[in-house]
Amino acid sequence: MSTESIIDRFVSTRERFLTICEPLEVEDYGLQAAEFASPPKWHLAHSSWFFETFLLKPFVVGYEPLEPLYEVLFNSYYNGIGDQHPRGQRGLLSRPSLDEVLAYRAHVDRAMVSLLKAADEHASEESIISRTVLGIEHERQHQELFFTDLKFSLSANPLYPSYVSAPAEQGQALEPLLWTGFEEGLVEIGHSGDGFCFDHELPRHRVFLESFELANRLVSNGEYQAFVDDGAYQRPELWLADGWAAVQENHWTGPLHWVDRDGEALEFTLMGLQPRQAATPVSHVSGYEADAYARWAGARLPREAEWEQVAASHVSDSLLSSVDSHHPRSAVGGDLQQLYGECWQWTQSAYSPYPGFAPSAGAIGEYNGKFMSNQWILRGGSCVTPPSQARPTYRNFFYPRDRWQFSGIRLAR
Ligand SMILES: [Fe+2]
Repeated sequence: MSTESIIDRFVSTRERFLTICEPLEVEDYGLQAAEFASPPKWHLAHSSWFFETFLLKPFVVGYEPLEPLYEVLFNSYYNGIGDQHPRGQRGLLSRPSLDEVLAYRAHVDRAMVSLLKAADEHASEESIISRTVLGIEHERQHQELFFTDLKFSLSANPLYPSYVSAPAEQGQALEPLLWTGFEEGLVEIGHSGDGFCFDHELPRHRVFLESFELANRLVSNGEYQAFVDDGAYQRPELWLADGWAAVQENHWTGPLHWVDRDGEALEFTLMGLQPRQAATPVSHVSGYEADAYARWAGARLPREAEWEQVAASHVSDSLLSSVDSHHPRSAVGGDLQQLYGECWQWTQSAYSPYPGFAPSAGAIGEYNGKFMSNQWILRGGSCVTPPSQARPTYRNFFYPRDRWQFSGIRLAR
């Protein structure tokens, strides 16, 4: 890769974050409605912190941080770097102000562009380029979290504010749910080739799959409504033990952003409260709800290797239909629909290392490896995932109780 293209990629990714912030009011930048939903201002600062910590401090002789205390304030979870401001108290940081955070971004941007230009002339280029690519992909992940965290925080406001205004909604027709069968066999999963991947997508390795069937599309709101109407949230036999406990503790009665008001079925979206569309994929369900729905429907959740094996053979069609909008949209074309661009798809696979997995040395090795406990894998991508991150080998992971991501259901059996 030429340094010119890495600089372009760096600059356009950094600018995109400012673009997606444009609809915000200044008060929105500090919102944190729960420990897991970081404020927009924190995401803007932390993604800059990543470049400062893993590139500018180690590679730029005499680099002067704008504010040394930002090292603690905007460290997310890197114990190898040092102390961290508590995650649940990010919303208390009225200072630095938004202007100061934007100045911090600009400071980091200037230093990064000079570093990348200088890297062209030195032999140390390779590690600088590969870390910059990681920083860019990290920033894109935080751009997705910006949307999901903001949606959650706005949903805590009884006014149900909109991030953007809604276009006229067209009711869609629901495609029939069809099953595609796959023969048993030895397959290979994991990333291959020259493109970027995170460390936990490696190494590529063999997996034996029994024969299985995968649904051609995601479960819809209307189908999930039938599950709710069948009393599923009162029927322990449909749930995993931990799932049933979560239903009881949290008083769940339906997906996170469903709102029933005055007999009207509504859904909170980034465009405010909208009529719930029966054909739209159900979103913001926990892994437990996805699992219970599958059991109720006489099916199961896919294994991650099954999902990847099928998606890898549909890669060109699916990437064409991936859209970077703020609203779910049908990805039509080919047998298998809605792989990307709608909702992440829960799998039944625990988030664990691939055989031979080796995290990077040093603090940067904390990126993925240390979270391989008690979480589930989700595959695909959502309506707020940057399209460049849509790939068959991408492993997203969340706790099965988590509901604030755009997480939906694809059935297998
Ligand atoms: Fe991060």
